[in-house]
Amino acid sequence: MINKICCIGAGYVGGPTMAVIAQKCPEIQVTVVDINETRIARWNDEDVNNIPIYEPGLVDVVRETRGRNLFFSTEVDKAIEEAEMIFISVNTPTKTYGVGKGMAADLKYIELCARQIARVAKTDKIVVEKSTLPVRTARAIKDILDNTGNGVKYQILSNPEFLAEGTAVEDLHAPDRVLIGGDTQTEEGRNAMQALVDVYAHWVPKGQILTTNVWSSELSKLTANAFLAQRVSSINSLSELCEVTEADVDEVAKAIGMDSRIGPKFLKSSVGFGGSCFQKDILNLVYIAKSYGLDEVADYWEQVIIMNDHQKARFASKLISTLYNTVSGKKIAFLGWAFKKDTNDTRESAAIYVADILLSEQAKLSVYDPKVQEHQIYFDLDYLATRSEEENKNGVTVTNDPYESCKDAHAIAVLTEWDEFKDLDWQRIYDNMLKPAFVFDGRRLLDGDQLKNIGFSYHTIGK
Ligand code: NAD
Ligand code: UDX
Repeated sequence: MINKICCIGAGYVGGPTMAVIAQKCPEIQVTVVDINETRIARWNDEDVNNIPIYEPGLVDVVRETRGRNLFFSTEVDKAIEEAEMIFISVNTPTKTYGVGKGMAADLKYIELCARQIARVAKTDKIVVEKSTLPVRTARAIKDILDNTGNGVKYQILSNPEFLAEGTAVEDLHAPDRVLIGGDTQTEEGRNAMQALVDVYAHWVPKGQILTTNVWSSELSKLTANAFLAQRVSSINSLSELCEVTEADVDEVAKAIGMDSRIGPKFLKSSVGFGGSCFQKDILNLVYIAKSYGLDEVADYWEQVIIMNDHQKARFASKLISTLYNTVSGKKIAFLGWAFKKDTNDTRESAAIYVADILLSEQAKLSVYDPKVQEHQIYFDLDYLATRSEEENKNGVTVTNDPYESCKDAHAIAVLTEWDEFKDLDWQRIYDNMLKPAFVFDGRRLLDGDQLKNIGFSYHTIGK
């Protein structure tokens, strides 16, 4: 029986996941630790609305559990020492240096965690990989723990997280499945897996808790993201064909999605997928395939990324060519910056890449997003290092009012599918824009006919 859980990493996964475990398992003490002091301070903020991650429903779960059996702390050693089960939920970004640069997952944070556990642990531990990791990482973690530890026994489990941002709490409350990989060959391994099964069994039906060997579990996570992203790239590739053939991509998606073998989900054509996972995990899959000499496998999956990059660039090009081949000095309003609605996460958001192209064409951008903060928008652009920070500041303004962003604009680009954009007073927006007033709907969110009736020149994807 597990009494104390520690989770290293208080991010988009660690925070919500542990909050729900604490909610559903009131007898287990859950401590989430992070080296980022600001992040932990925000998790502990007296006003629960200031927690660092925006997710519908999360505030309620944190309000219920924080201080009861959910704790946030920067005392990593102490939490490791006390816990019987340690989740590693740190970031595993794409490597930006050395061998595998731009493709492989950077495992330095994972290794640091393993070494810290090895240094601190005095009692047996179950170590759970919650981060998304390349297949066979458990081997490396075990090597570090077994060779540098204090004679402590470790079991390594893989328990990848399938939540999507924006619906994290809902996904955690009712997951399609929970996947637990471990050492199925030994009794200790099976016991460790059972201990984690018991945690989830507090609220997840047993039939939905899947146990596999550790390699299958690690690889399934990369595969799930690759398949999901592949669907988006597939429909996006068709969107371009729809635009030249007078087919409508939403109609095509509906028609194929009603085939139960295909299914209706993840067929929404867009300006391109973003988020911290899809690109990173596919690049990682491509890298792994290449490292085993499986070039055809690598090329097959890499095409998903190539198509996504094309979709983002194509959206920007269409905007520029429609605006008479120049956006220099023109104000373009951006509605949305987050990579999808209902999150404040902007990692790999299509908006960043579209903005970068338009800024290179000397456009003046005015961005409105209901949840993304101004400093994040500048950070995202500065991170690309296409131009100086000062140039980004000069080229982009950020407002907290969509009407202000759209005022005197030549064009509006819808980059995130926030529901509130549908309810804006589009007549008012039209009246205050330069004419012709263009809307480029990168999410197929708005009512195109209504906008055209108002007088807009409305352009969308796949139609
Ligand atoms: P994140 O960047 O939001 O959070 C990671 C946290 O780990 C950061 O706060 C960082 O400070 C902390 N950290 C790093 N090294 C540390 C150390 N040595 N000790 C203590 N804390 C440390 O990342 P995330 O989005 O939560 O993703 C975490 C993992 O989960 C990644 O592997 C990701 O691929 C995977 N994942 C993410 C999602 C998602 O929707 N974001 C979904 C499924 C899986
Ligand atoms: C994804 C996976 O869905 C989740 O299971 C995994 O744990 C983490 O990665 P996330 O990136 O949070 O989740 O969001 P998701 O809903 O998958 O959307 C990813 C991107 O694809 C977004 O930019 C979204 O707008 C885009 N998308 C999604 C589309 O363009 N069309 C679709 O039909 C679906």
